[in-house]
Amino acid sequence: MLFRWFYSWMPDPGSRYSHPRFFFDDYPRLFHFGSCLLVIMAVSQTLTQVVDLVSEHKVEITVAFVAVYFLSQIRTYFKLAHVPGPWFAGWSDIPHNWSIWNERAYQYYYDISERYGKIARIGPNSVLSSAPEVWIHVNTKPGYRRSDWYFKAVRVEYQRDNIFSQADTEKHDATRKKIAPGYSGRENLELEGSVDSRVVAFLDLIRRNYLSVDGGPVKKMDLAKKIQFFTMDVISLVAFGTTFGMLDRDSDINNFVKSSEDGLLIGNMFMSLNLAWLVQAPVIGKFLGPSPKDKTGFGAMMRETFRYIDERVENAATDTRRDMLASFYRHGLRGDELRSEVLEQMVAGSDTTAGALRGIMLHVLGTPRVQKKLQEEIDAVHAKRTWGDGIVPHAVAKQMPYMQAVIREGLRIWPPVLNLLPKDVPAGGDTIVVDGKKVFLPGGTCIGVSTLAMHHDKELYGEDADVFRPERWLLETDQQKLAMMTRINDLTFGHGKWQCLGKPVAQMEINKMLFEWFRNFDWAVAKPSKPWRLTNAFGLFLINDFYVRVMERET
Ligand code: HEM
Repeated sequence: MLFRWFYSWMPDPGSRYSHPRFFFDDYPRLFHFGSCLLVIMAVSQTLTQVVDLVSEHKVEITVAFVAVYFLSQIRTYFKLAHVPGPWFAGWSDIPHNWSIWNERAYQYYYDISERYGKIARIGPNSVLSSAPEVWIHVNTKPGYRRSDWYFKAVRVEYQRDNIFSQADTEKHDATRKKIAPGYSGRENLELEGSVDSRVVAFLDLIRRNYLSVDGGPVKKMDLAKKIQFFTMDVISLVAFGTTFGMLDRDSDINNFVKSSEDGLLIGNMFMSLNLAWLVQAPVIGKFLGPSPKDKTGFGAMMRETFRYIDERVENAATDTRRDMLASFYRHGLRGDELRSEVLEQMVAGSDTTAGALRGIMLHVLGTPRVQKKLQEEIDAVHAKRTWGDGIVPHAVAKQMPYMQAVIREGLRIWPPVLNLLPKDVPAGGDTIVVDGKKVFLPGGTCIGVSTLAMHHDKELYGEDADVFRPERWLLETDQQKLAMMTRINDLTFGHGKWQCLGKPVAQMEINKMLFEWFRNFDWAVAKPSKPWRLTNAFGLFLINDFYVRVMERET
């Protein structure tokens, strides 16, 4: 920069100033050139003096820096000293980061809430709360904004935001207005048919490859993996109108599932080391994140997704589809913005719903009493069916009380999204009320939710809060309490302006799949002593080796 400025005052050899009369012709230029030299000399002299001074007073300067650092740490410590929590958390993020490194942050949040109560400190500038009223307040009061965790964790493309990673509230709200209609059934008339076709593909896959017979050798099926195939197939079909076809081929095409798991694990590791910013850093970040140029993995999935989108856009004039992409396009999304919002659904809509279905299945299979009751309800509804031989309509499934209780209880006992979803307190601070007590949070404090503690609260759900019992949703006679339980259960999908946009899609997948799984088959966990392999990255469960035995039902 300095050189460019300097040379801009040098004579151009081809110009009229390059002849010997230059110095007399252009006195002002000469003056500037001289002053420029003087400035450079003065700066270099000052720098030399500074270097000399620093080397003479090394000790004093180091002490001053350390003192300033500790004073700012002490100031930060006292800003939230009134919030209970482990003493060390007031000074450092290390314990929190350690839990992320160990892929057990959700358990750390639960343990902290159990020990310190409904509001607790987990870092010098971070608190978490398991109080539903606090979380509702944070997600509705104007001024709260998403913390920078979002773009570190959820931004999948290099320096490009999507609705989920967008921390700027104004930009977020503007995008949400454009894409929300596409997520709803009103503008996405193909949604139910798309989900139905993938449910059929799942049932076919079981019958083709994994049916066991009574007493015969068991054809073990890794339900965790097939569920992920299902959610990936649904989301690709719903998002851009073509399914990946993983269920049809019983295969993790191009390693999309594996690479999405690997991506979560690597991202989680970067996050625990406070290095997540590297992936978005200028120049270097480009080489660290996934790219559409990659041959396999998440980058390849980006390429496939972009290819389908581009094809649809090219044929926009003749496109008669009534799906999500068509709605996004109609509401003005174009180019990179359109690509990013469609791609984002692969991230937001597959691991989450897969986690919910896996959790519900394990708990139903582990409770034969519940499996029996669920099948009785399904059989009764199916016997009176008005929808022919197809997949159960979502409207019918939603009216089944026992199945709805099973789903609510499954999401309560095993919430699929367990990260902090942190938000920043508005400048000037805010006073929140926890258990009737006022707590002041200074502006800029990062506040997150302790999801597991909130949904396993013994004060509300009783001593068996950590046990799967769908009947708690049916037998509760206190209507006020039931309404509160329902409101809290809905927080599984977030709240307010950041609430999950894919909730109708996820609920449709869960309802239809559960109904058809239990209508068609009898199930058992293949290895009850170790039902699955589990880890957690970014608050999402990564589950593998969930082997089951499936038999055709004799009805
Ligand atoms: C059981 C399944 C699911 C659960 C538990 C879940 C949960 C959540 C939660 C808690 C949030 C809010 C984050 C926040 O406070 O910032 C969220 C946001 C979001 N989810 Fe879901 N989700 C699920 C399925 C889906 C599906 C299937 C899709 C896509 C079809 C989807 C798309 C989104 C999007 C786009 C957002 C961002 C909304 C915004 O920023 O305005 N989710 N989800």
